[in-house]
Amino acid sequence: MLALWKTWQDLKARGIMGINQRNGDYILKYNKRKYYPVVDDKIITKMRAIKEGIKVPELYGVIETEHEISKLKTILDGHNDFVIKPAQGAGGDGIIVIADRFDEKRFKTISGKMISYSEIEYQISSILTGLYSLGGMRDRAIIEYRVSPDPIFKSISYEGVPDIRIIVLMGYPVMAMLRLPTRQSSGKANLHQGAIGVGVDLATGITLKGTWLNEKISKHPDTNNIVSGVQLPDWDSFMRLATRCYELSGLGYIGVDMVLDQEKGPLILELNARPGLNIQIANDAGLAQRNHIVEAHLSELKKKKRIEVPEERMLFSQKNFAVTIN
Ligand SMILES: Nc1ncnc2c1ncn2[C@@H]1O[C@H](COP(=O)(O)OP(=O)(O)O)[C@@H](O)[C@H]1O
Ligand SMILES: [Mg+2]
Repeated sequence: MLALWKTWQDLKARGIMGINQRNGDYILKYNKRKYYPVVDDKIITKMRAIKEGIKVPELYGVIETEHEISKLKTILDGHNDFVIKPAQGAGGDGIIVIADRFDEKRFKTISGKMISYSEIEYQISSILTGLYSLGGMRDRAIIEYRVSPDPIFKSISYEGVPDIRIIVLMGYPVMAMLRLPTRQSSGKANLHQGAIGVGVDLATGITLKGTWLNEKISKHPDTNNIVSGVQLPDWDSFMRLATRCYELSGLGYIGVDMVLDQEKGPLILELNARPGLNIQIANDAGLAQRNHIVEAHLSELKKKKRIEVPEERMLFSQKNFAVTIN
């Protein structure tokens, strides 16, 4: 606990953002309530992304009622691997990642656990009752394409799919983090499931330091490999995707979560209207400070009656938030 307190104390000097400031100065100010459904329901996010020409994992099917669970067999027809998740879930809860079919009645999860067909049906039923949804409201179950991580992640990740989060203020990327699943996080890249967060230089896509369970780390706990200094492939594509999510969602302050699929390249996994603050530890930098730079730039543009297109916004961020390593 002391270590955590010290980390936050150190960061305070560098324009760290706290929870109250995030909620008051950013979420309330930049995120209009009417746009929340677009990010809080992953089916709506998917539909909107497809409309905007942004790539997402393919939707195999949606189950909305108990009665529809009987559709599962047809939905899974021809798919030996897939993902089941709550449309309104968060934090990785309620998600099962199926890596292979074992026989007619059984599957294998990403961590090698055997799971029966009826257990999957039961999971879907729990999703529908709202067990994993925000506010416990009834929910829908998504069955989608399972992302296979790009081989670049083999050495620094443990099972599952790492994801890349970029925080975007009014269409300007301000900070990025690579999240790596660990043995503890069962293939999911959510920090509170036990995944690692690693800062990423916005200018180059090279990884910086890591944080695990709120402590700074330099090696992956399962693979022992150094997590910093890794060049993420296709970095500008991630930046471009994140930047465009402002137009996609209408929300001014979001966390854009992306993955790098072996075959399909960068895909959007989800958007978050209340992005967490740990990204600051992973980057050893404060969000408030960077946000202020964007806000100052925006007010300059306003005076000139100008707005910038996604490509200009991306270049602004890469120029202003580049990490200089001494
Ligand atoms: N289609 C998928 N293929 C493989 N892994 C996935 C897929 N969808 C989610 N995951 C894993 O689960 C994690 C959480 O998924 P996400 O869609 O972001 O939901 P949540 O809102 O619960 O964070 C991801 O970071 C990823 O590691
Ligand atoms: Mg997520």
